[in-house]
Amino acid sequence: MIKAEIHCHIEGAADPALVMRLAGKYGIDVNDVIHDGRYVWHDFTTFLGAYDRAASVFRQPEDYRLLTYDYFSRLANHGAIYGEVFGSSDHAALMGIGYTDLVNAIAAGMDDANREFGIEGRIIMTCVRHLGPEAAEAVADTVASNPHPMVTGFGMGGDERAFQTKDFAAAFEIADDAGLGLTSHAGEFAGPQNVIETLDHLGVSRIGHGVRSIEDPRLVERLAREGIVLEVCPASNIALGVFADYGRHPLRQFHDAGVKVTLNSDDPPFFHSNLANEYDIAERHFGFDRQMIDQCTRNALHAAFVDEPTRTRLLNRLDNSL
Ligand code: ADE
Ligand code: ZN
Repeated sequence: MIKAEIHCHIEGAADPALVMRLAGKYGIDVNDVIHDGRYVWHDFTTFLGAYDRAASVFRQPEDYRLLTYDYFSRLANHGAIYGEVFGSSDHAALMGIGYTDLVNAIAAGMDDANREFGIEGRIIMTCVRHLGPEAAEAVADTVASNPHPMVTGFGMGGDERAFQTKDFAAAFEIADDAGLGLTSHAGEFAGPQNVIETLDHLGVSRIGHGVRSIEDPRLVERLAREGIVLEVCPASNIALGVFADYGRHPLRQFHDAGVKVTLNSDDPPFFHSNLANEYDIAERHFGFDRQMIDQCTRNALHAAFVDEPTRTRLLNRLDNSL
């Protein structure tokens, strides 16, 4: 089955074996966050900490190329024809990797995987919310003044309980003026009000997660009416305790309310998941039939931050596979 993904953090996609290999190469101890070949953490804060520790082994552009190639090869193997990943120039900068080197390395990994497996990729450069609005504006400025054909979006991850959403309006305006697609994490660890503020102040066409919008029926109606796309990551939401179990997860309710939903893996090995597993979950836990699942893929391709000829080509590949 043809798949597409529009919400995955590149460092969060790092296979523990690759992280251990690079940790060995650079003499870094990651035993506090990887036990028996699996990431360990116990809540959102320790998850973000484990994420930062894993990210700290990517010290040279070649490490990012390898990580991206490794992830996109896996994604293609799961049937994906398109993947968008979040890059974080703040994480790379901590390791001494500059913006242009980071982007070129991720793009090279995508190109290598595309040549071998025919999977298309794009980069969404993200700011980290808990680092604050000034850092966010600096990322937006850097993206805007260093255009790259594979960097087609701007986004925000990190702890959405930090700062006020409107504080980030300037960063998103810079990115919007540069012609980038816009998305932001919201309604994952904070409630529906944060989704409303994200729509009102940041001008996004997509919301990362957005699942807690379900607590506000008027917001659900608005999402449907305005065609806002939710980047839903079911296994992530259960692993991080946003919902106690799949029975309480609102994916199906959003679908039935006419909200455009997509299926994504977020930080797959941290949640012992992958894109094929997310598609399986939609079928097994939410009763999605084949047509509903293909609609998720179609929603992702319609919402993708790509030029129109590429979108048409990808949609044709999906249509021809049905
Ligand atoms: N960074 C990586 N994964 C994240 C998530 N699920 N929410 C917010 N920031 C993240
Ligand atoms: Zn995410």
